[in-house]
This record gives sequence, structure tokens and C-alpha cells, in this order.
Amino acid sequence: MSKTSRETFYISTPIYYVNDIPHIGHAYTTIIADALARFNRLRGKDVFFLTGTDEHGQKIEKAAAAKGITPLALANAVVGRIRDLWKALHISNDFFVRTIDPFHEKGVQKIFLRLKEKGDIYKGTYQGWYCVSDENFLAEDVPLQPEGDKICPDCGKRATLVSEECYFFRLSAYQEPLLKYYADHPGFVRPPGRLNEVVSFVRQGLKDLSITRTTVKWGIPVPDDPKHTIYVWFDALHNYLTGAGFDWDMKRFERFWPADIHLIGKDILRFHAIFWPAFLMAAGFPLPRTVYGHGWWLKDEAKMSKSRGNVLDPHVILKTFGPDPLRYFLLREIPIGVDGNFSHEGFLHRVNSDLANDLGNLVHRTLTMILGYQKGVVEPGEKENEDDRAIRESFETLKGRVAELFDEYAVSKALEEIWAYISAANKYLADNEPWKLAQDETKRKRLARILYQTAAAIRGTSYLVYPVMPESAQKIWSMLGETKSIAEEGYADCRFENMKTGVMIQRPRPLFPRVALKDFLQEEAPAPAAAKKEETMDIISFDEFKRMDLRVGEILSAERVPGTDKLLKIEINLGTEKRTMVAGVADTYAPEEMVGKKLIVIVNLKPAVIRGIESQAMLLAAETSDGKAIIPFFDRDIPAGSKVK
Ligand code: MSP
Repeated sequence: MSKTSRETFYISTPIYYVNDIPHIGHAYTTIIADALARFNRLRGKDVFFLTGTDEHGQKIEKAAAAKGITPLALANAVVGRIRDLWKALHISNDFFVRTIDPFHEKGVQKIFLRLKEKGDIYKGTYQGWYCVSDENFLAEDVPLQPEGDKICPDCGKRATLVSEECYFFRLSAYQEPLLKYYADHPGFVRPPGRLNEVVSFVRQGLKDLSITRTTVKWGIPVPDDPKHTIYVWFDALHNYLTGAGFDWDMKRFERFWPADIHLIGKDILRFHAIFWPAFLMAAGFPLPRTVYGHGWWLKDEAKMSKSRGNVLDPHVILKTFGPDPLRYFLLREIPIGVDGNFSHEGFLHRVNSDLANDLGNLVHRTLTMILGYQKGVVEPGEKENEDDRAIRESFETLKGRVAELFDEYAVSKALEEIWAYISAANKYLADNEPWKLAQDETKRKRLARILYQTAAAIRGTSYLVYPVMPESAQKIWSMLGETKSIAEEGYADCRFENMKTGVMIQRPRPLFPRVALKDFLQEEAPAPAAAKKEETMDIISFDEFKRMDLRVGEILSAERVPGTDKLLKIEINLGTEKRTMVAGVADTYAPEEMVGKKLIVIVNLKPAVIRGIESQAMLLAAETSDGKAIIPFFDRDIPAGSKVK
């Protein structure tokens, strides 16, 4: 199986654990992947961008037990939070894989059996020091503590000595093939420094790897031997195959595999650069082209992590700034391979200086001048002079350079060069002083040329920043009077001279908020958990709550709204009157099963017309992580129309 010459691009993020809510460190991996996916789509590649969640294993089992809920309930709740965050960050993944998806479990079992039949998986006994937190046996050379036990070098927690019957993967057989593979494919592990780490680790000798547990129940059972559960990393890594369609959508799988890049944090490099290619070699799959280990976001110089208690919740920033400034900052501030320290000052400085001042002002000034001096119409103007040509030609150079840098995964450098161009465009305006030319009727054509060049520079720039700041780029694009979306137009249209004349621009709207540091710090100031919760929730007073008229409604009839999958038209009895409402619950409930049920409805909400039907009340329902509505029906009889308080 190999890729055809048609250009595809398959990029993945790690799948995230569900024992904890996601923070800026997790968002970072996904944002990088999103920018690369968007860039490649823009260039016309057939992109497959995969992300998802890693839901099995002891860590999740324990976290759920601590909360007194099942692992599945915990997973479902956290998956909802993760999906919401990706939505808020405008992540454009093509698929979301969960390791509890039946197709994934089946795929992993199939590969397990394949390796067992081949002799690369065999049964034995393992004794070793196991770190529950990292779900990993410690390397043998981790020294014993004076107390006679071992401490996990990654997380600093105490490991447990475990002895159990288990299945092993014959990793030792892949030591030489791996070393040969690294030598033949120097771009397999990136950045290059990380390859050296991997090679020296493998050279020290690879032992067979225990890949099942009998102590863990929450996981995929070993086929034909279900007292063994497949080790969470063997399970999780295969998401890159199953998520792309292995064993259930082979057409998609064959189109996209092998992945172009697995983007991961440097902490999980060993799993991806040693175990994963060995599993793939054993099962006979081609290997991914690149495993890229990015650096960490630190807070106060320590890795952001839940156990250190120094995580930053992206929602706080999102609330004030929206997704683009955060996306920009994380990608601009540090090259992908190195660590960065997150500081509020650093964040605000970037937003105020690069976004509000440099890009925001360029757009604002240019549009304001086109409005003021040319009634909002972009005009061709006089022939280009040398200065004008320079701004056009340097855009073409920039465009090529940005593509090269994105292909090298050097996003920060690409942004740096785009911003150098934005500065050049600002300087071009300042040097040419269009505001002075506007005073002189004879200079109108010169003025028009300058404004055309600047508008064209802005239009081109919005293409280039689109992968990183899709919302703002599209906003700029619309302000320039373009009606299509950047994504639809694609990269071929990204040419300076494709700025049309005769188009009417829009009145400029602010692109990036300016926020003072003291207000921002106040927003982020660490507060006790309960107080903080209140602060970020939209609190209403009791009087406001009392204004809602909630009643018991009895469903008299329900029918599907023609031409929709989700909507039901429902007649309800409110005791003294009947009303009609439209509700998006047809995913979960068949019309006939609803009749006679009693539920809570809001009756003093302004009516809305939905699909031509006036909806005169609204029912209350909970939403599942995959968007289905679950209605709380009354479990005791109560007259229709009763007040709910
Ligand atoms: N479930 C495993 C991955 C399995 S992939 C087959 C896992 N999950 S994780 O939720 O702990 O981490 C996911 C990603 O988030 C990793 O790439 C990790 O490096 C990244 N980050 C977590 N904290 C981070 C920072 N503070 N900074 C940057 N990235 C970090 O590992």
C-alpha cells in the first residue's frame, strides 16, 4: 500500500487523556496541527486532520473512582469539554477518534492477533516498577531509593513493584531495523536534536515490551484471553490507523496512510519514535513520514501540568480575546521545537503590538482612507513606481518563503516574516503620506495607486495569516469587499494583483481588542476554586430566575417537521391552554414515544418562528457530548400546568 501521486496530507495530534480538563499545553498541540492542516488545505491538498481522546487505562479508572462515577461517565463528560474547547479555538479536525469507539477496539484486537500469530506477541511474566500516573513501567536503570522503591523520573511520583503474567511485544527484534530506518530517514524524528536522543536510547538495547495488564479492567480485552487488558499505549497508538479508517473505512485509510506528521509533545517521543514504528513494522504497515516532538509551555519555568497546579485555562483568554490572539501568540512566540514560558505580559505585548498596532492599524488606516478619499472604492491609480513595485514583488517572495517555512513546520519563522512584510507595508504608507496627497486634486491617481498597493498587500497577507488566525483573516477579507471565503478560494488566488479594482470596501471594524494588563491580570488572578467558578459563570439574581415561567407540560401529539432530521412539532397541554412548540429532539426520540409524557417547559419566552411554525414554548433538555438532547420527564404524576420552581 502506498500513497498515489495525488497530494494528500495526513496530520494527527496525540489523543488526549480524559482524566483531566484540557489546558493551554494541550491546546498548543492542537493549534499547531490546525494551522498546518489549514495551510495544506489552502494549497489544495487533500487533508486529513485527526484528533481524539485516549480513554482507557488505570489513570482514568482511578480518576473516575475518586469522583464516584464510572470511567465511561468521566470520559463522556471530559470529551464534551475537549470538543467544546476545540470548537472555541476553531479547530478544523476532519475526524475525532475515541479509544472506546467500537471500530477502534476491533481494529486494535485485529492487529494484536495478527502480531500474535506472527510470533511478535507472546505470553510471559513481567516484574517491574510501574508508574500509575504515567501508565508506564520505569526503565530498568532508574535507581532504587534508600527506601527500596523507585521514583518515576518523569512525574516524580512513587512507582509500584508489579509482577504479573502478561503478553510481550518482541521489541528487541526491532532494534536493528529501527536504527537502520532512522539512518535511512533522517527526517523521521524532528527536530533533528530529538533524533539523537532516540537513536542513543535504542542503541543502549531494546528489551521486549509488556503490552497487557491483568490489574486494569478499563481497556480493550485481549482477544480469546479476556482476563488480560491491552496496555493503554498499545491501544492508544493504534488510533492513528483506526481513526483514519483502518478496518472500517479502508478507502479512506488507503488514501491517507502513512501519516505525513504525528505532532506530539516531547514527553511522549519515545512511544512514538520507538514503540510505534516497531508495532507498525511488525504488522507490515508503512511508517509515518515524520514524528515531530514539540516543546512545552511552561508557567513560572515549570511544565504546565495538573499535578503541578500551574495550568492555565484557555477559556479565560478566549472570553476576552476570542481564539485568534491565543492561536497567534502560541505559534509566534516560540519555534515549535523549543520550550516557552507563558506570561500574561508576553501575551498582551504580542497582541497589542503585533496584532492591534501592526496588522490592525494597517487595515484600519487603509480602509479609512479608501472610504474617506475614494468613497470606499478601490481604484487602479497611476502606473507603479519603484516603491510600489517593491511592495508587490516582496509579497510574491514572501509567499514562496512562507510556503517553504510551513513545509518545514517553522510556523513561528513564517509569522515573523509575514510581520516583517506588514511593517514594510506600514512604512510604505508612512513614507508615501497619502493623507498629504489627498489634499491635492492633481495627485489623485498617485493616491489611488498607494491605496491599491496597500489593499493588495493586506489581502495577500490575510491569506498568509489565515492558517493561524482564520477568523480575523476572513474578517479582513470581507472588509476588503470580497464575498467568497479564503478557504474556498485557495492559495492559487493568493496573488497581489488579484486585488480587484472597482470593489466597494466595508467600513473598518475593530479586529483585535486592546486590553490593559491590570484588567487582564485581574481576570486571571488565581482564586480559590469555588470563587473562581462563580466569577467565570454568568450569575443571575433570584429575581431574574423568578421571571422565568416554568410549567409542567403534557405532550398531546408529536410529529416530524418535514425536511429536517432533528425537529419535532409538539402540541402540549398546559392545563388551561394548548400550545405548539418546535424542538430539536428527533435524534433521540421517536414522535410516538413522546405522547403522554410530562416535561418542563418555559412558557414566557418570546415565540420564535422555526421552519414556518411558531414555537410558543421551549422544553428543557440536557445535551450529550455528541449533541443529542435528553429530556428530563417527570417520574411521578403531576397535573399539566403546575408551576416549576
Ligand atoms: N494520551 C497520551 C497520548 C497518546 S497518543 C497515542 C497523552 N495525553 S496527554 O493528554 O497527557 O497529552 C497530550 C499532549 O499534550 C502531549 O503531546 C503533551 O506533550 C501535550 N502537553 C501537555 N502539557 C503540555 C504543556 N505544558 N506544553 C505543551 N504541550 C503539553 O500523553
